[in-house]
Amino acid sequence: MEQSEKRGQWGSRFGFIMAAAGSAVGLGNLWKFPYLVGKNGGGVFVLIYLVIVVFLGYTMMLGELAIGRNTKLNQYNAYRSINSKTGFMGVFGILSAFLILSFYSVVGGWICKYLFEFVIRGIIPDSQNFFNLYVSGTWEPILWHAVFMALTLIIVFGGVSGGIEKASKIMMPTLLVFLIIIAVRSLTLPNAMEGVAYYLKPDFSKFSFQVVVAAMGQVFFSLSMGMGVLVTYGSYLKGEEDLSNNALTIPAIDTIVALLAGFAIIPAVFSFGMEVTQGPGLLFGTLPAVFDQMPFGQLFGIIFFLLVLFAGLTSSISLLESPVSWAIDSLKWNRKTAVIVFAGLCFIIGAAASLSMGPVLGDFKIYWFDPKGQVIFDFLDYLTANILMPLGGLLLSLFITFIWGYDRAFAEIRKGSKSNFSMGGFWKISMMVLVPIMLILVFLQQMGILSRFIG
Ligand code: PHE
Repeated sequence: MEQSEKRGQWGSRFGFIMAAAGSAVGLGNLWKFPYLVGKNGGGVFVLIYLVIVVFLGYTMMLGELAIGRNTKLNQYNAYRSINSKTGFMGVFGILSAFLILSFYSVVGGWICKYLFEFVIRGIIPDSQNFFNLYVSGTWEPILWHAVFMALTLIIVFGGVSGGIEKASKIMMPTLLVFLIIIAVRSLTLPNAMEGVAYYLKPDFSKFSFQVVVAAMGQVFFSLSMGMGVLVTYGSYLKGEEDLSNNALTIPAIDTIVALLAGFAIIPAVFSFGMEVTQGPGLLFGTLPAVFDQMPFGQLFGIIFFLLVLFAGLTSSISLLESPVSWAIDSLKWNRKTAVIVFAGLCFIIGAAASLSMGPVLGDFKIYWFDPKGQVIFDFLDYLTANILMPLGGLLLSLFITFIWGYDRAFAEIRKGSKSNFSMGGFWKISMMVLVPIMLILVFLQQMGILSRFIG
């Protein structure tokens, strides 16, 4: 069998873009982005986010796709095939994808549960309470986590073009249509414009370095960067794709969806006089209460949670594919075995994360990052989003600059490109200088070092 047949390959450019944009568009856009906007001062956060997407998003995405397509391997083996001593630099990304999937699937389970409630029982009463009570339960959240993981497993079983690509080609366009319906509904509610003003008008008095760091972390998470996912997806590309073009299209779609999610959620929350600043409970706590008060709220609720489910699934399949492709390339496992093993392991870790939100494991604390201790769920979230992802980004920049080298990178990027890669100069400087500076600042901030200087 041909190597590419065994590993899989995208069937079309459209299919690849839907799959990669599907990986990027996820709970990060629909759940995290709107609440981060709410928590970090509205428009200032949005503005900073956009600037970082332009500088970091394009640069990193192009780098990851190029390495993947050039080596036709998962991140670890890709790095190793370029230089056998530096393969370890690719391990963190795969580990990070694996750990993220564990708790991402728990949140995916919450969505399945909400959808079930909306469809079967109509609108949920007293949402915030309902949410708190539900997530701290023992068996039910684990059951729904299993349902979400099973859906992920079934799609990834189908392989690259038959599973991931096919599912993304259906779910992504549907999601977009649904999101536009909800955004229009939200924007036509009474007083919606107050929410729009909060969302779009930057209030510079709210600016702080903390906001910049929050935006940077969110750009990474939202674009699925620093985790081997894009290297893996790039490795299934044929030679004739224009990489530079794709590296613009995918972040553009992701950003449009994040902005639309803000339009769908923030004006509606304002219109019903509720709080946008309360954090993670915004999607699960506040929003159902908003639907509750709307005419045809049940219908809008179903549409909304279905679109969130689709977004979650197109991301979770990419997270599973990262370790799966490593096992296929490296351990020579067949796809089915790899999928069952990794989905099974993620299910077990995720079950522990879910239990850590209730009485069973709620007292079990990990003291690595926080002297007060973190429960398993928060620990996994912190470890991946704040440590492993930026580390993956930093290592990518070092790897391209010092090991792969820009000559080889440029040669790969030019393959299949119609233009002569006119953004090459920008890309190189950004990868060599901007990316490491920004990421080192993130680390310093996290270690509390910067705050000693800038307060
Ligand atoms: N980008 C996804 C989201 O926004 C999450 C994700 C991160 C997916 C990393 C894959 C890899 O929800």
